[in-house]
Amino acid sequence: MKRFFIAVSCFVIIFTTSVTIAQNGPETLVLPTGTMTLTAPENAEREPKLSPVLFPHSLHFSYSCKDCHHDWDGVNPVQSCATAGCHENLWASMPGTTALDARRVKSLTGAYHQACRSCHRREVVEQKAAGIKNISTGPIACDGCHPTPHSDPEQSDETLSIPLGNLTIEAPEGVDATRGAVEFPHGTHFEFACQSCHHDWDGESEVENCTTSGCHDETEPSGTRNIKDPDNILYYLAAYHNACVTCHRDLEKERQAAIKKAMVEEKDLPKAGPVGCTGCHS
Ligand code: HEC
Ligand code: HEC
Ligand code: HEC
Ligand code: HEC
Ligand code: HEC
Ligand code: HEC
Repeated sequence: MKRFFIAVSCFVIIFTTSVTIAQNGPETLVLPTGTMTLTAPENAEREPKLSPVLFPHSLHFSYSCKDCHHDWDGVNPVQSCATAGCHENLWASMPGTTALDARRVKSLTGAYHQACRSCHRREVVEQKAAGIKNISTGPIACDGCHPTPHSDPEQSDETLSIPLGNLTIEAPEGVDATRGAVEFPHGTHFEFACQSCHHDWDGESEVENCTTSGCHDETEPSGTRNIKDPDNILYYLAAYHNACVTCHRDLEKERQAAIKKAMVEEKDLPKAGPVGCTGCHS
C-alpha cells in the first residue's frame, strides 16, 4: 500500500490553471495546523506525573488523517480522542472493576503510546530498510515526549479552512469544454494523505489550486496528446486524468486481483472510484 502511495504521488505531480472551483454545500473543516499540547483529561482518575506532550500536528499530514482519527468519516466534525465512548479513561481500568465490554476501549495513555510511539519506531525500521541515512521520525524515548522540566503548554491558534463537500471542477477559462464539469467529493478522499494530491503542500500554508500559474496551468498538450508524456506535466487535463483516473483504475485492478486470489466477495471490498467517462463528467 505504501509503495502504491509513493507511485501515486509521483504521478500526481499535480494539477493547477484557473479551473473554476465552486463549492456546493457549506461544509468546511477547521484544521488546526500548528503545535497542540496533549494533556491528561482534567477529571483523570490519577494526577498525571509527567510532562504534557507537545504535538506538531502539521508535521503529520503526510499520513492519512484516518491513520489517527480512525473513526472519522471525512464529513462530520473530528472528535477528540478522549470523547466519551472512545479513549475516555486515562488508564486501563483494573481487572474486575468494569464490564469486559467497556474495557475493550483502550485507555488514553495506551492509545497514545500505541499510536505515537509505535509509528515513530516503525518509521525507523522502514526508513532503515529503505536505505535512508537521515532518518526523520518523532520521539521514542520517554523524555522525548515527556521532558523534565515539564514543557510549557503551547496551543497554536493557526488553522486552515478545508472544504469537505463536493467541489465542482470545471475546465479552465479558454478551454472549449467537450465534457461536463466534474463533481468531486473531496471528503470522501481523506482516507488518502492530503499530500498524495496536494503534493507541494507543507501542511501549514494555504493550499494552492491545481491550476495556479506555474503549476498545471497549460490548457494545451505540448506536442503529443499522450497524458503520460512527461512534457505534458503542466497540462491540466493530463494532471487531472493522471491523478484521478490512474488511482481509480489501480484500485479497481487491486480489487479484481483480490477477488481472484482470495475469493473475496466483491461487496466486501472497499470501493474504487469511477473509471468510465460519465462516472466523473456529468
Ligand atoms: C499522527 C496523528 C494525527 C494525524 C495524522 C492527524 N491528526 Fe488531527 N489530531 C491528532 C491529535 C492527537 C489531536 C488532538 C486530539 C485531542 O485533543 O483529543 C488532533 C486534533 C485534530 C482536530 C481538532 C479536534 C478537536 O478536538 O477539536 C482536528 C479538526 C483534526 N485533528 C483534523 C485532522 C485532519 C483533517 C487530519 C488530516 C489532514 C489530521 N487531523 C491528521 C492527531 C492526528
Ligand atoms: C503514522 C506515524 C506517526 C504517528 C501516528 C505519530 N507520529 Fe509523530 N512523527 C512521525 C514522523 C515521521 C515524524 C517526523 C516528521 C518530520 O520531521 O517531518 C514525527 C515527528 C514528531 C515530533 C517532532 C519531532 C521533532 O524532532 O521535531 C513529535 C514531537 C511527534 N512526532 C509527536 C507525536 C505524538 C505525540 C504522536 C501521537 C499523538 C505522534 N507523533 C504520532 C510519525 C508519526
Ligand atoms: C511519542 C510521544 C510519547 C512518548 C515517546 C512517550 N509518551 Fe507517555 N504519553 C504520551 C501522550 C500523548 C500521553 C497522554 C497525554 C498526557 O497524559 O500527557 C502520555 C501519557 C503518559 C502517562 C500518563 C500521564 C502521566 O503523566 O502520568 C504516563 C505515565 C506516560 N505517558 C509514561 C511514559 C513513559 C514511561 C514513556 C517511555 C517508556 C513514555 N510515556 C513515552 C506520549 C508519549
Ligand atoms: C476520475 C474522474 C474522471 C474520469 C473517470 C474521466 N475524467 Fe475527464 N476530466 C476529469 C477532470 C477532473 C477534468 C478537469 C476538469 C474539466 O475540465 O472538466 C477532466 C477533463 C477532461 C477533458 C477536458 C475538458 C473538456 O471538457 O473538454 C476531457 C476532454 C475529458 N476529461 C475527457 C474524458 C473522457 C473521454 C473520459 C473517459 C474516457 C474521462 N474524461 C474520464 C476527471 C475525469
Ligand atoms: C484525491 C485528491 C485529493 C486529496 C486526497 C485531498 N484533496 Fe484537497 N483538493 C483536491 C482538488 C482536486 C481540489 C480542487 C482543486 C483546485 O482548487 O484546483 C482540492 C481543494 C482543496 C482546498 C481548497 C483550495 C482552494 O482552492 O482554496 C483545500 C484547502 C484542500 N483541498 C485541502 C486538502 C486537505 C487538508 C486534504 C487532506 C485532508 C486534502 N485537501 C486532500 C484534491 C484532493
Ligand atoms: C489516491 C486515490 C484516488 C485519487 C487520486 C482520486 N480518487 Fe476518487 N475515489 C477514490 C476512492 C477509493 C473512491 C471510492 C470511495 C468510496 O466510495 O468509499 C473514490 C471515489 C470517487 C468518486 C465517486 C464518489 C461516490 O460517491 O461514488 C468520484 C466522483 C471521484 N472519486 C472523483 C475523483 C476525482 C475527480 C479525482 C481527481 C481530482 C479523484 N477522484 C482522485 C480514490 C481516489
